[in-house]
Amino acid sequence: MNQAVILAGGQGKRMKAPIPKPMFQVLGEPMLAWVLGACEQAALSRICVVTGYEAKQIEDYLGDRCRTVLQAERLGTGHAVQQSIPFLQEDTDGSTLILCGDAPFIDSETITDSLARHEAEGNAVTVITASVENPFGYGRILRSGSGIAGIVEEKDATDEQRSITEINSGCYWFRTADLITLLGKLTNDNAQNEYYLTDTIAIALREGMRAGAYCSRNPDVVLGANDRQGLLKLNTAARMAVMRQHMANGVGFSCTDGIIIERSVKIGAGTEILPGTILRGNTVIGENCVIGPNCVMEDTVVGDDVRLNTVQAYQSRIDAGVQMGPFVHIRPNSHICSGAKIGDFVEIKNTTIGEDTAIAHLAYLGDSDVGKGVNIGCGCVTVNFDGVKKSRCVIGDHAFVGCNTNLIAPVELGKHAYTAAGTTVTTDIPDYALAIDRGVLHIKDGYSLRKFAVKGKKGSKDNK
Ligand code: UD1
Ligand code: CA
Repeated sequence: MNQAVILAGGQGKRMKAPIPKPMFQVLGEPMLAWVLGACEQAALSRICVVTGYEAKQIEDYLGDRCRTVLQAERLGTGHAVQQSIPFLQEDTDGSTLILCGDAPFIDSETITDSLARHEAEGNAVTVITASVENPFGYGRILRSGSGIAGIVEEKDATDEQRSITEINSGCYWFRTADLITLLGKLTNDNAQNEYYLTDTIAIALREGMRAGAYCSRNPDVVLGANDRQGLLKLNTAARMAVMRQHMANGVGFSCTDGIIIERSVKIGAGTEILPGTILRGNTVIGENCVIGPNCVMEDTVVGDDVRLNTVQAYQSRIDAGVQMGPFVHIRPNSHICSGAKIGDFVEIKNTTIGEDTAIAHLAYLGDSDVGKGVNIGCGCVTVNFDGVKKSRCVIGDHAFVGCNTNLIAPVELGKHAYTAAGTTVTTDIPDYALAIDRGVLHIKDGYSLRKFAVKGKKGSKDNK
């Protein structure tokens, strides 16, 4: 069957961090994940990743998603592929795609179209190439007539060869059996004393095998990053491509500043995304919403007609017609039901907020089930943690929770229950009942006059 080998041994010295280069992220995903995703989209399921620098990080990340093989020393791309020979020998029937784990924009169309060409031409090897304005640093494609004669690396090229703008993407299809033969014939007789995978083309031709080239319609397939600036460029390119896709689907952006939307996010038509908004993971946004400015949503499902201004929400559900913000924090496992209104400085954790409930300002609701049509006053707190364990609060439908109520969990307010401002609730309150907890209000006439008269003139002056 057809299969893929992904080269991921590189370090990326100029990134200045002990992370293998393919693990640096573009739009929230390691570059390696982009490459794997393209393979999987092209229905390639037999994949081997060649690791090298900080191999464990890649192994841990991949888990059992695919095979890995270690290249203990970095002796070149040819040497890297040689490490996968045991994997290749397990199935020599079809073709093998070689990819670079640090060139994230390889796409499934390029993979399948180049395979079609590779098979139609009966090639031992088909190089995926691209035409670029600035070929500096890449291997140049040497043509003979309509075919390929070889690849010459920048460091080994003559001035004339350096002016060639068709370059090697670093991706190739090989007939697997021929690849194994060709790998056995590589030498390191070149400027860098490396085993160049690119030498397989000239060797194949010398041995009477067919070699071809497929020029990708997507020149971004070659893009990689050698330093943080390069990584920023990749992120910018990916970010804009994702937003263009959403715009084509009817999502509005009047300004794209600070907007980062990961590839996995889905957004309904008619929704407007405002600046400073970051949408991550498995977030789904409905239709006709206004999200932003300055929202962060992670793995959160948002219904239609929702308005969120400066809201952060994680692993939660926000149903249709909800309005929240500014400055609202929705922590994991929360569910805000339709029509709820949540205002500034409210934190909600592991809690359900019922339909049409209002929490206008300054409240903390954790580990609670809040019914529908409830009013939570300013400064209310569910006291869900006693220093040892967390407990739940239940607030019945249409309850009115007065300002600065403390609910000492576990405690339950019945439906239509009412708490007076400042009440600390320590036992369950029946339906329709009022809970009022008031100390005696003492009034001491002339208190401050006496106090500041003793201490000095300042206070008494202010009190004139
Ligand atoms: C290679 C190609 C060049 C092509 C370019 C595209 C060769 C000799 N040259 O050059 O023609 O234009 O890619 O980007 O192949 N790797 C290992 N082990 C090694 C060496 C490399 O795993 O010993 C991995 C790297 O991590 C990377 C990939 O192979 O993912 C390509 O290696 P890199 O050093 O970037 O190759 P280039 O010199 O850029
Ligand atoms: Ca490279």
